[in-house]
Amino acid sequence: MKQFLYPSHIGDLKTALAEAFEIKHDRYKYESLGHHKTALLIFFNNSLRTRLSTQKAALNLGMNVIVLDINQGAWKLETERGVVMNGDKSEHLLEAVPVMSNYCDIIGVRTFARFENRTDDYTEQILRQFIEHSGKPVFSMESATVHPLQAFADLITIEEHRAKNRRPRVVMTWAPHPKALPQAVPNSFAQWMLAADVDFVYTCPEGYELDPQFVGDLKPIYNQKEALKDADFVYAKNWSCPGVTRPQEYGKVLSTDMSWMVDKAHMDLTNNACFMHCLPVRRNMIVSDDVIESPRSLVIAEAANREISATVVLKRMIETL
Ligand code: CP
Repeated sequence: MKQFLYPSHIGDLKTALAEAFEIKHDRYKYESLGHHKTALLIFFNNSLRTRLSTQKAALNLGMNVIVLDINQGAWKLETERGVVMNGDKSEHLLEAVPVMSNYCDIIGVRTFARFENRTDDYTEQILRQFIEHSGKPVFSMESATVHPLQAFADLITIEEHRAKNRRPRVVMTWAPHPKALPQAVPNSFAQWMLAADVDFVYTCPEGYELDPQFVGDLKPIYNQKEALKDADFVYAKNWSCPGVTRPQEYGKVLSTDMSWMVDKAHMDLTNNACFMHCLPVRRNMIVSDDVIESPRSLVIAEAANREISATVVLKRMIETL
């Protein structure tokens, strides 16, 4: 595997899940595979789960790991070509990427949407420069439009908790948040669920429709309560305006309607659903305390499975070096 952004990059999901459960059963089974191989994990943005779980995954495989926080200790990087670099950015990504690639075998990049230009974000401008100029396998640790390690971990978690005799109904619901957040998590969750053996719908206020690149022809259900009926899994997430139906409002907060927060009354509409969120989560904005603390909450299990999804991805990348 030379890049990892989409479910198509990992191929058949049943095979990937089988590999995930093999690793979960014995996470050191491939501890010699990464001997004398180095993973470079580059963070343009903050992280807790991704930072720790991806390092742990690399260690599971016997790799060396280098972590670089671009905004703490490295030169500030210019990412646009053609810019007169007379500001605070000392180095261009076009030199920095090939330099960094000298020191590693596989590169992970975290870089959020900037909301300055929808085209730049939706063409993954920064991640693409790593793919084009590093000559190394590159995986997204959440980039402008996708968070595939999270979606793969969520799929593993659903597989572990689903009833085995029927397809689960998985409902992703928009929920309120005070700040503008990227669409990476909902884009990837939708894309992976649509490729998986589940029935998937999503619900959001008008203006929050996701890009067809990730949801195909699937339209949202605008009535949240109707969408939640008979859900087996409720996946809550905030995202800002994707700009599909309102391009001029890309990246804006269009609603802070607190009636969309997932509380017990919402969960009572479901088929005793499990509650999911990728974390970090703002309690009593996205989800009420009692729902996230309930025995049906899977948020810690999802985070634990981040180690497993990252181990599978790094293993696949090492195998193609
Ligand atoms: N879910 C997730 O990616 O968490 P971090 O932002 O803490 O890495």
